[in-house]
Amino acid sequence: MSLNVVAKLLIVITSSYDIFSCYAQTLQIEGAWRADGKGLSIWDKFAHTALKISQDENGDIACDSYNKIAEDINSLKTLRVNHYRFSISWPRIMPDGTTRKINEAGLNYYHRLVDALLAANIKPQVTLYHWDLPQALQDVGGWENDTIVDRFRDYADVVFNSLGDKVKFWITINEPYNVAMVGHGYGSAAPGISFRPGTAPYIVAHNLIKAHAEAWHVYNDKYRAKHGGIVGITINSDWAEPRNPYKQEDADAALRVVQFQIGWFAHPVFNGDYSDLMKNIIRERSLAAGRPQSRLPEFTPAEVARIKGTHDYFGFNHYTTVLAYNMDYKNLEGAGTVADRTWLDSGSFWLKVTPMGFRKILNFIKEEYGDPPIYITENGVSERGPMNLNDVHRIHYYDNYINQALKAYLLDGVDIRGYAAWTLMDNLEWATGFDEKFGFFYVNRSDPSLPRIPKKSVWNYATIINCNGFISPGESPHECQIHEPEAVICLLIVSFFLSVVLSVVSFIHPSIHPTESFLVYRIYSSTSVGQFLGFGSVRS
Ligand SMILES: *[C@@H]1O[C@H](CO)[C@@H](O)[C@H](O)[C@H]1NC(C)=O
Ligand SMILES: *[C@@H]1O[C@H](CO)[C@@H](O)[C@H](O)[C@H]1NC(C)=O
Repeated sequence: MSLNVVAKLLIVITSSYDIFSCYAQTLQIEGAWRADGKGLSIWDKFAHTALKISQDENGDIACDSYNKIAEDINSLKTLRVNHYRFSISWPRIMPDGTTRKINEAGLNYYHRLVDALLAANIKPQVTLYHWDLPQALQDVGGWENDTIVDRFRDYADVVFNSLGDKVKFWITINEPYNVAMVGHGYGSAAPGISFRPGTAPYIVAHNLIKAHAEAWHVYNDKYRAKHGGIVGITINSDWAEPRNPYKQEDADAALRVVQFQIGWFAHPVFNGDYSDLMKNIIRERSLAAGRPQSRLPEFTPAEVARIKGTHDYFGFNHYTTVLAYNMDYKNLEGAGTVADRTWLDSGSFWLKVTPMGFRKILNFIKEEYGDPPIYITENGVSERGPMNLNDVHRIHYYDNYINQALKAYLLDGVDIRGYAAWTLMDNLEWATGFDEKFGFFYVNRSDPSLPRIPKKSVWNYATIINCNGFISPGESPHECQIHEPEAVICLLIVSFFLSVVLSVVSFIHPSIHPTESFLVYRIYSSTSVGQFLGFGSVRS
């Protein structure tokens, strides 16, 4: 797949995406934590430590995707996605994290999954590292030990070699910010380290960046000519607006928030080295605290050269926007953040429905990192509470966020190539267990067969894909629309009564950016949008 040929937006479900795809992460859905010689991961250990995960849930069985390939493919077909993003479990393939033992049974699982996807005409997008480090590597320092750079390169080499003739889209590391900050700063994710918040995240990030670069070089040197795929890193970031738009110090704080999230990783990979803004702030604070040098490690000139340019695209995960204000000594970047009280809530305390920030940060990426091809690798919204199949808040979220992405693409010229939704089905949402539900499909965990039951948003997403965009009111009803089967409607009627309060709130809530909330119908029905969306069936 050449970068220039495919101007498609992928819809992926929690595993990855092709412009429109879905994404699923290993630990969160795969289950089978000890099957067929799999080694332990840091999440297996974290999840088996009491009180780390809400209601003491763990990923032992999760959604049992290890044994339910056919069911998952059916769900993907229902959604009509043309790509599926999923991640590989490092310890399933290399139980102790090294090449000492390659677990063929683990690799075979991914071959079966990839073969089934390709047979269904769904292209795989594969993440090498979505947080489940082999525990054996954590035991020798994990991401704080720079020998991990070579271990990761070896692992990438094994996976590229085994699956590279079938998989053409690779993501090295998913959300390095979360690995560094949440895993090694706050400690609320595995490996749960929180006692060196001023230093450990920077060391971890430094090694993550180097490891990514080495994996990219392995592909570039050994596999690109033969397999012709693309490789990149997926970086997550909120957008930040100044809390008071008339105050320069709030505007400066907002820039710091963004530079300390997206820029921490994107600046080295795209521009070479950390940004001067980040280097200066951390050095000043380190010296002021009496340290002999900055807490931010330095890349040597050779490392800068090795890291710069290790991207075939910009992989981007995005969910929400924050309001930033200046704060002198609280956290790393000297900025506090709050949410606007009028923003719609979700099932996650950190996630407010703020579609306009999506277009802004996509434009920021275009300006800041040299107009790269962008694949949105995650975007989605959660709920909590009793099961509710009538997820109108999710329909609202996707309509508005996808619309902002389309505006960025069509009106601002941002080079968006793909879009993946998070996520295919309700899964283990990290430390919150199964409480926060991001899925298009509800998984009934009281039923031993773990059935995947579509929520209402499934038909909305499938319609966006099948219609290749949004249908203008004058064109509806249209034959491209996908309707829910009757059996599901019965379920929805039952669930409607449970959900009535939430639905009403969703519908009457005023948007604080009314001019941003209209759908760009007419633009959507042009043929160039069809190429952008890359939906399974193209509408003329
Ligand atoms: C770093 O990892 C290597 C093995 O890759 C190990 O020999 C060494 O002791 C580790 N260093 C620390 C400080 O744990
Ligand atoms: C979930 O499964 C249990 C056990 O089979 C069943 O009693 C219950 O009705 C199911 N719930 C839904 C919403 O399907």
